[in-house]
Amino acid sequence: MSRTSPSNEPADEAANKPSSSARDLWRLIRTGRPSPVALSVAAIAAIASVAGTLWFPVQTKQMIDGFGRGQVDVWAILGLVAILAAAALLNAASAYLLARVGYRLVARLRQSLIDKLLRLPVASFDRESSGERVSRVVRDCESISELIARQTVNLLTGVLLLVGSIVVLLLLDVRLTLALIGSIGAAFAIMIPIAFLLDGLSRRIQDRTARFSGILTHIFQEIRLVKAFTAEPRERERSRGEIDGLMRLGLRVARVNVLLEPLMSLAMTLAIIIILVYGAARVAAGEITVGTLTAFILYIFNVATPLMQLTHFTAELQKAKGASARIAAILLEEEEQTRPGTAERLPGQTLEFHDVSFAYDGRDAAVLRGIDLRFEPGRTVALVGTSGSGKTTLLSLIERFYQPSGGRILYGGRPIGEFDLRQWRGSIGYVAQSAPVMPGSVRDNIAYGLDGEFDDEQLRSAARRAGALDFIEKMPQGFDTLLIEQGNNLSGGQRQRIAIARMFLRDPDILILDEATSALDSETEHQVKLALDELMRGRTNIIVAHRLSTVMHADRICFLDAGRISGMGSHVELLATHPHYARLVERQFRRPSETELALAP
Ligand SMILES: Nc1ncnc2c1ncn2[C@@H]1O[C@H](COP(=O)(O)OP(=O)(O)O)[C@@H](O)[C@H]1O
Ligand SMILES: [Mg+2]
Repeated sequence: MSRTSPSNEPADEAANKPSSSARDLWRLIRTGRPSPVALSVAAIAAIASVAGTLWFPVQTKQMIDGFGRGQVDVWAILGLVAILAAAALLNAASAYLLARVGYRLVARLRQSLIDKLLRLPVASFDRESSGERVSRVVRDCESISELIARQTVNLLTGVLLLVGSIVVLLLLDVRLTLALIGSIGAAFAIMIPIAFLLDGLSRRIQDRTARFSGILTHIFQEIRLVKAFTAEPRERERSRGEIDGLMRLGLRVARVNVLLEPLMSLAMTLAIIIILVYGAARVAAGEITVGTLTAFILYIFNVATPLMQLTHFTAELQKAKGASARIAAILLEEEEQTRPGTAERLPGQTLEFHDVSFAYDGRDAAVLRGIDLRFEPGRTVALVGTSGSGKTTLLSLIERFYQPSGGRILYGGRPIGEFDLRQWRGSIGYVAQSAPVMPGSVRDNIAYGLDGEFDDEQLRSAARRAGALDFIEKMPQGFDTLLIEQGNNLSGGQRQRIAIARMFLRDPDILILDEATSALDSETEHQVKLALDELMRGRTNIIVAHRLSTVMHADRICFLDAGRISGMGSHVELLATHPHYARLVERQFRRPSETELALAP
């Protein structure tokens, strides 16, 4: 296929870096496995259609010269029409085939990009905003397919048409050909800087549009925040700045375009006049026929159109190269776990932290330092500490969202990295602070991420045990009610209870509750606590909670202080020995009933 990398330096061993975007592009096109058959058929059809287009002026010339001699050749006219029709059909066929190749390519590319993104570790998503990731999958893949589907056929037919026309013209008349190339060449020499100007402008418009949509996504995602802080005027101003910027860029493009178009047609007219005047003189001198002159006039378009397509192609090529560099960067990122697990995971083992430390990528300060902890089956460990002390981070390490920077996490004596990742996570139940829901029905959400079918009775029973059945049945379509984006049609407590219902179905070995009951009112919390007590029976439980009523019944309480464990023991022990804990209890649980509880032995 086309040599798309004229600017690329000769390949050498050291160039195996993501900097070579032409190579990335080529690799991505190959990843998309464009069908060689479809590509060859399309190319043949394109060549045939170019041949037809090239033949047309020659046939016209013969016909006109025939008129001159007083002959009207009906067959020649019919032949002309047939050639034009065939050329149009072949052109359409090749365009369709190439479009098909392009769409399949973009589909495969998107699929492999999404597969890859889903296999990336959580840390990778801390680095780039989700909006940018979305634009990789949606826009960047599209510009690669645009290049393949549309621009390659333009390039192919354009080059063929250009070369073919010049050859035919040279055969017809050398001096007139040189005049034609000279005049059209001059016209294009003026156009090229303008084309580059347009190119740069259109890329800036693209970038700014991307930024604008990013800003809008943010505003609408956080619409409650915007409204609660009556920040609408601020956001309106910010959007207006972007909108104005886009408008000014658009106007500049329009100004260049309105200049370009008359300039273009002026240049074309001049070229035609030059050919006409010079040609007419040669006709008068009897050196060429009227038919030849007509053919030359027709060929002007065959030469000018491909030149325009070529400038377009280089612009699209630049865009696709940029896009593939960005996509290739993602495809090169390290995946979460590529090898299968080497150890068999048996339920009911002890989970241990040995001197574990952790720092987030790109941050110097360690979030966890020297953590030694044991989580035993059937026991409950509560993590307590001020916010930001690293509780959620510690839980993320158990989920293997991140790798510890130092120390070891063992399960049944084996490093947890040895277990198959899917199986490992499948045995952990994680109820997060925010209890997110996915788009889908209540039913889908309760069964989310679980293999196998669950009948209505199982779902209802799980919901009942989580204290969720009452409100689900009050919803318009019960279990079939659709939960919209971010579960905005549910209260925080309702989302929590759906998450807890999911846990009853999932039946995990290790249960992690990260402030799972903090969003509940005390009445609901009481119900859910009974449910949780049942859920927690016989499992390895790790809970983070603010409420003393939850924490004080844990077998062991672990106090985290800026990433270090500063105290460990039962509630009573800590209360006696750990001034920080005592103060936390004093501050957070000042409500009379709970203070009484706190003071109770
Ligand atoms: N994804 C992240 N990237 C970088 N820093 C983070 C990230 N998540 C949390 N942190 C930082 O790690 C520290 C501990 O956070 P976290 O574990 O969420 O605390 P807690 O759950 O105890 O409130 C905080 O200082 C927080 O700013
Ligand atoms: Mg937290």
